Amino acid sequence: MRNTQRCKDQRLERGGVSQQRSERSTHPPPRRKTMRLITLAALLVTVHCRDTFKGHQVLQIIPKDEAQLAFLKELEDVFELELDFWRRVTAVSCPVHVRVPFQILQFLKPLMESKDIRYFTMIDDLQAVLDEAQKEMELAASAPKPMNTDSFNYSRYHTLSEIYSFQDMLVSENPNLISKLVIGQSYKGRPLNVLKFSTGGTNRRAIWIDTGIHAREWITQASGIWFAKKIVTDYGRDPILTDILNGMDIFLEIVINPDGYEYTHSTNRLWRKNRKPDPTSDCVGVDLNRNWDAGFEGPGASSDPCSQTYHGPRAHSESEVKSIVDFVKSHGNIKAFISIHSYSQLLLYPYGYTRKPAKDQNELYNLAKKAVTDLTSLYGTYYRYGSIINTIYQSSGGSIDWTYEQGIKYSYTFELRDSGRHGFLLPSDQIVPTSLETWLALTAIMDRTLKNPY
Ligand SMILES: *[C@@H]1O[C@H](CO)[C@@H](O)[C@H](O)[C@H]1NC(C)=O
Ligand SMILES: [Zn+2]
Repeated sequence: MRNTQRCKDQRLERGGVSQQRSERSTHPPPRRKTMRLITLAALLVTVHCRDTFKGHQVLQIIPKDEAQLAFLKELEDVFELELDFWRRVTAVSCPVHVRVPFQILQFLKPLMESKDIRYFTMIDDLQAVLDEAQKEMELAASAPKPMNTDSFNYSRYHTLSEIYSFQDMLVSENPNLISKLVIGQSYKGRPLNVLKFSTGGTNRRAIWIDTGIHAREWITQASGIWFAKKIVTDYGRDPILTDILNGMDIFLEIVINPDGYEYTHSTNRLWRKNRKPDPTSDCVGVDLNRNWDAGFEGPGASSDPCSQTYHGPRAHSESEVKSIVDFVKSHGNIKAFISIHSYSQLLLYPYGYTRKPAKDQNELYNLAKKAVTDLTSLYGTYYRYGSIINTIYQSSGGSIDWTYEQGIKYSYTFELRDSGRHGFLLPSDQIVPTSLETWLALTAIMDRTLKNPY
């Protein structure tokens, strides 16, 4: 399953033509019979440990008509089922990926079969995959600690403290090129570190790159580490990167969401949000990519604190977001803002919260096309590109909509590998290839930013 079905006509994007899709606000009311079944099943679910995934499977489901789509959208809203949508429900014939707990599988599969809904099992035994990855982490932990960034292992996933020490090593090895800024603290008081790559000047035009806003998207933090090393390796050797750094600064925040990332190591590998408790419920965490002041609280974000896409009590309520907002505003000269997620293999630009085309839509489209062409040239990895709302779904309160409205024209977001075979559990042997191909796309965006001052 290398490429998932292409479910949207790319040509529509060009002229900014939007396609009619159903969204949360236009749902048909839940059909009673389905809801009754779901409620019954939910009652049968007794205690299960939240933090193991024994018996869980990840299913790919492809709705073939509006009725099937509506059914899946209903499922998305029943939190009691503890379904975890890895790829959300969007449109007819677009694949949905969902993690389903063991007890729920027992009735969901027959229910879907009775409705003639096509699905197949993407990950058959989730816990086995997690156990395997855990073994690899433990094995690596017993290896001697790297003494410098040359002996650092870029082909494995790292803990938060390993990433913090990597950053400090890299800074101390390259004091003339890199400095570490602490732009704030996470909810639990962890430092929010940003690496600044600069060859001089004051308040130069700058590129921002961030990874790890969603904790479980481990390929992103791992790629962020690789990018940091790549920048120091290439400066003075690669002419394009050298020109970029001679004209502009690069800011790189590898772990936007340190509390969430730590939690994916300690407790729940599939945690997405930050770790701020909600005062009105037992649920924890705000979706940091729904918390920005751009269409805040609109469709494509949830007001339920138990939802994976909970937008938080108010725009910029989360320190992990507010710290970046303050930084971007006080800097005032950031010209490209690139926020990196996984997975699905997409390169996206504003808007997510509105159908209104971005005023730079044509340029953003053409640059995305160039960046994706460069990316694909290395290993043939297939990417789709376009605006968020037309390529995936409506989503409000996202970071790049906010930065775009701040006047940062080159605002992009990536969804890295893969397209669903492994989802968030991308094997570590894909870290370096993913980083290498992504770097080509990043370079295209940075180079354009350098050469088209605005
Ligand atoms: C780096 O980590 C990977 C994954 O754990 C492992 O297979 C590989 O042997 C490690 N490389 C070195 C040089 O230790
Ligand atoms: Zn994400």
